[in-house]
Amino acid sequence: MSEALDPVRFADGVLQYLDQRLLPAEIRYETAQNCDEIVAAIASLAVRGAPCIGVFAAYGIAVLRSLERDDDAFAAAAMRVRTARPTAVNLAWAVDRVLAAEDILAEALAIHAEQRSIDAAIGENGIALFAKGARVLTHCNTGPLATAGYGTALGVLIAAQRAGLAPHAIVDETRPLLQGARLTYLECRRAGIEATLQVDAAAAIAMARGRVDAVIVGADRIACNGDTANKIGTYNLAILAAHHHIPFYVAAPRSTFDFTLASGAEIPIEERAPEEVTAIGGRLVAPEGAAVFNPAFDVTPGHLVAAFVTEYGVLRPPYAESIAGLAGRPQWSTLLHRESSRA
Ligand code: MRU
Repeated sequence: MSEALDPVRFADGVLQYLDQRLLPAEIRYETAQNCDEIVAAIASLAVRGAPCIGVFAAYGIAVLRSLERDDDAFAAAAMRVRTARPTAVNLAWAVDRVLAAEDILAEALAIHAEQRSIDAAIGENGIALFAKGARVLTHCNTGPLATAGYGTALGVLIAAQRAGLAPHAIVDETRPLLQGARLTYLECRRAGIEATLQVDAAAAIAMARGRVDAVIVGADRIACNGDTANKIGTYNLAILAAHHHIPFYVAAPRSTFDFTLASGAEIPIEERAPEEVTAIGGRLVAPEGAAVFNPAFDVTPGHLVAAFVTEYGVLRPPYAESIAGLAGRPQWSTLLHRESSRA
C-alpha cells in the first residue's frame, strides 16, 4: 500500500474524500455531492481530524455554492456543515473564512495549501523538543490523514524521522474507534518510523517502566489559558505524564486556538452513539442496550501542558501571555504572501 493517502481531493469541481473508517483494510474514495453527503462524511468520521475537517468543509461550501442559487438556502446548508461536529474549532473557522471571502473556491484552495505550509512549520519547530531516538507516546491520529497536510503531533515525529533523529513512536490504540491502531500505526509505517502499539490502559505501566520519554498529542480546540480539548483519553495521559515527570506537549495550528474562550470549561464536548462503545467492527462486546457514556473528547488543563508547538514557534507558560501573543500574530496567509513577494 504505497499510493498517497490524501484524505481530501478536489479537482474539476468534484470533492472526494478517503473513507478513513475503512482503513487500514481498504482504500476507498467517495464523492460528496450535496449537503447531506458532506455533513455525513464529517459526522461519521469518514473525514476526521480537526484541520482536515476544516479543509474538507471549505471545499464543501464551494460545492454547495455552485449548487445553490438561493442565498437563504445556501446559508442554511453552510450552517449545517459548520455544525456537523461541535468540538474542533477548525470546522467553524474554515467555514467562516470561506463565507467571508469573495471567491469561495479560491479561499478553500488557499486554506488547503496553507495547511501544508503550517504543518511543515510545526514539524520544523517541534523537532528540537526530542533527543535522538526519543520514545514518544502519541494518542489518536494527528498525521497527514488528520490535517490534509503533513500532520501536527505525528507530523513532528515524521519531521524528526526525516531529520535522522529516529524517534520511536508509542501508539495508543485509542478506543473506541481505534484511530491510533488503524491510522497512526499505518502512517508511522509509511513514514518509516519504528512504532509500538499499545492499548490505552498500558500508558501508566509504560511510563512507570521508563519506556516513555515524552508525550505529544494534537488538539481540537485550545482556550486562552491553555486548556486543550483532544481525543478522549488525552487528559488521562497528561495526568500520568505529570505523575511520572514526563513532558506532555500539544502540537496544533493557530486555527485550533479559540481566542474567544477564557478556559476549557466553555468548550463543547461531542458525545457520540453508544454503539461505538458496545460494538467493535459490528460485533457486540457489551450486553445489548448497555447504558454508555461516550464523550469523543476531554479537556486537559493548561497547567499540565509543557509547551504548545505551533507554526509560529513553541509556546511556553504562562499561557495567558504566550497565547495572547499568538492571537496578535499576523495571519499565516499574510506571512506567506510577504515571503512570496520578497522572493
Ligand atoms: O474524532 P477525531 O478522530 O476527529 O479526533 C481527532 C483528534 O482528537 C485529533 O487529535 C485532533 O483533531 C487533532 S488532528 C491534527
